[in-house]
Amino acid sequence: MTDQRIHNFNAGPAALPLPVLEEIQKSFLNFKGSGMSVTEISHRSSHFDKVINEAVERARRLLNLDERYHVLFIQGGASLQFAMIPMNFLKDGETADYINTGTWSQKAIKEAQIQNKSIHVAASSEDKNFSYIPKDIQFSQNPLFVHLTSNNTIKGTQWYEFPDTHGVPILADMSSDIFSKPLDMEKFGMIYAGAQKNLGPSGTCMVIIRDDMLEKVDDSLPSMLKYSTYAAKNSMYNTPPCFGVYTICLVLKWIEEEMGGLAQIEAHNISKADLLYDFLDASSFYRTTAEKYSRSLMNVTFRLPSEDLEKAFVEKATSQGLGGLKGHRSVGGCRASIYNAATMESIQALVQFMDIFEKENN
Ligand SMILES: Cc1ncc(COP(=O)(O)O)c(C=O)c1O
Repeated sequence: MTDQRIHNFNAGPAALPLPVLEEIQKSFLNFKGSGMSVTEISHRSSHFDKVINEAVERARRLLNLDERYHVLFIQGGASLQFAMIPMNFLKDGETADYINTGTWSQKAIKEAQIQNKSIHVAASSEDKNFSYIPKDIQFSQNPLFVHLTSNNTIKGTQWYEFPDTHGVPILADMSSDIFSKPLDMEKFGMIYAGAQKNLGPSGTCMVIIRDDMLEKVDDSLPSMLKYSTYAAKNSMYNTPPCFGVYTICLVLKWIEEEMGGLAQIEAHNISKADLLYDFLDASSFYRTTAEKYSRSLMNVTFRLPSEDLEKAFVEKATSQGLGGLKGHRSVGGCRASIYNAATMESIQALVQFMDIFEKENN
């Protein structure tokens, strides 16, 4: 129990920027003079219209999106996207290429297979326990799209340079690194991100989709499962995840106005990750798990000399106000998730703690 805010290294839901939380708190009981909370106003009101339009506009500005791209908010998290992608785009006789870099890629592949869609795994890093981003990619003859996971939250790897697909649109799960750096959208037919890491609360997925992909949508699908429904109705065919969209809007405002945009946030993210990786590299006690050229700037995964020490490390860290350092249950070890909202002060506090823990236990 604590009455202080902790240094939050959770992988998701994860830390949000403090100014965003304060703004939510300040305006929670009376949103913009409406006399109601943002969770009580009608999604058809002009108040909410402004919120969703501002969120879309901010996303468009940050990513320099031209008019071919549509910003959508869809419920069901990133996992629903694993199913919707093959459902919407892949018709009989068509194949999509998937790159397998870990759990989330595998889940995306599985959802296509459940639907008996034709997919080709063009590359995989499974041979080395997903500790790297593959370079050798064997695309199929004529894929409709290439799917990849830009940042592997569990294994702590990240794409630094996206593959050359010779004009085939890339569809990317960017759940754990969206808006963490500038992005050239030209390669992407669609990107999507469950909000709960870099954007806002869980339950909302941001989808950015280009016209040429929208044109491929299977029109016979139920309304709620078609991207075209969301695009035609500004994500308000039904009641949208209002609180999620509102929080995302505030987070994007924070990135634009307080952090200075994506180039600045990338520089900040690099400095934070460097501090932690430099410390880990200099230590003979801690060991990183991802190969150096594939290391994630968002999820830093590492091991200690034994599982007992890892348990003691996480417990002691928690007791000192450093939370969320346990690795994903499927892989064990330790992980510090240092998304956009993690502050340099939090990383410094972590490094300081790790240094003392090493000296006490080495
Ligand atoms: C890269 C990635 N993709 C997908 C998911 C699943 O997201 P959701 O729980 O929103 O379905 C996660 C969740 O941690 C993730 O890290």
